[in-house]
Amino acid sequence: MNDNWKKIGVSIMCKHDFKNHVTIIKICRQKQLNALNKEVINSMEEALDYVERESKIRSAIITGEGEKAFVAGADIKEFKSFKKEEANFLSSVGKQKLFNKIANFNKPIIAAINGYALGGGLELALSCHIRVANTRAMLGLPECKLGLIPGYGATQRLPMIVGFGHAMEMILTCKMLNSEESRRIGLVNHIVEPEELIKKCLSIAQLINKTSPESLTAAIKSVNSAFSNDGDNIETIEFGKLFETENFKEGTDAFLEKRSPNFNR
Ligand code: CAA
Repeated sequence: MNDNWKKIGVSIMCKHDFKNHVTIIKICRQKQLNALNKEVINSMEEALDYVERESKIRSAIITGEGEKAFVAGADIKEFKSFKKEEANFLSSVGKQKLFNKIANFNKPIIAAINGYALGGGLELALSCHIRVANTRAMLGLPECKLGLIPGYGATQRLPMIVGFGHAMEMILTCKMLNSEESRRIGLVNHIVEPEELIKKCLSIAQLINKTSPESLTAAIKSVNSAFSNDGDNIETIEFGKLFETENFKEGTDAFLEKRSPNFNR
């Protein structure tokens, strides 16, 4: 990984490793525990737009600055005075620019959870396709203690990831889970020591990067369609479309010729 961090807006840093085809996106608002304000969301959108378009990048990792927090939620100071309409707007724009954008992204995105992932911070991790936490991570949805409910997708995604019972308990009690409890219920896929976090995510990215890019996009779309009423049909359509790609020919030729595939990007 070269050391060229690029700044986007005030609080996003990106490191593009074209050789290994992966970008690290870091949220840098450490003093406010990387809380998501409007500026962070807009800059994240810009960072994601670049990753989406850049064919040399095949996956991304999202993490937070510092040792304490991944993201401690939506910025409470920013929305404190909102009324209903502004709150609805906050939720829908945030979903459009960040949370749903990540969930429906054309490339896999891994959450590297380096500390507190609370409220909108956990919702950000839930939008990602794979979650890896370090041993210091604490995950929770404190919204009901603020007189709210989660507004960036957790009421929909969490039950799909950990099951209805665990999701209800997390949302209704606001109890924070440590990394071990989070892994036990399937909220995170892996736990590693803090210094191993990015290394572990890069090793997952490396496996992802060996596969066909069209397959990844189709797989994300198809798995996400489990949320819809038409998932079975969407899977069939996505499956069929891949038979028209060069990379399907390459993948199956490589198997039959007993060699590694060399996919077009
Ligand atoms: N929004 C705004 N500021 C935040 C924040 C947030 N979500 N989380 C932390 N901060 C700020 C604190 O206000 C503090 O700033 P100041 O120094 O200016 O006072 C700074 O970050 C450091 O935080 P603490 O002093 O509180 O640190 P701590 O170690 O004592 O506690 C914590 C850490 C337990 C994570 C605590 O900060 C906390 O509970 N944060 C709020 C978590 C939360 O409720 N998140 C949900 C937000 S609502 C949401 O996300 C809604 C949605 O779904 C759309």
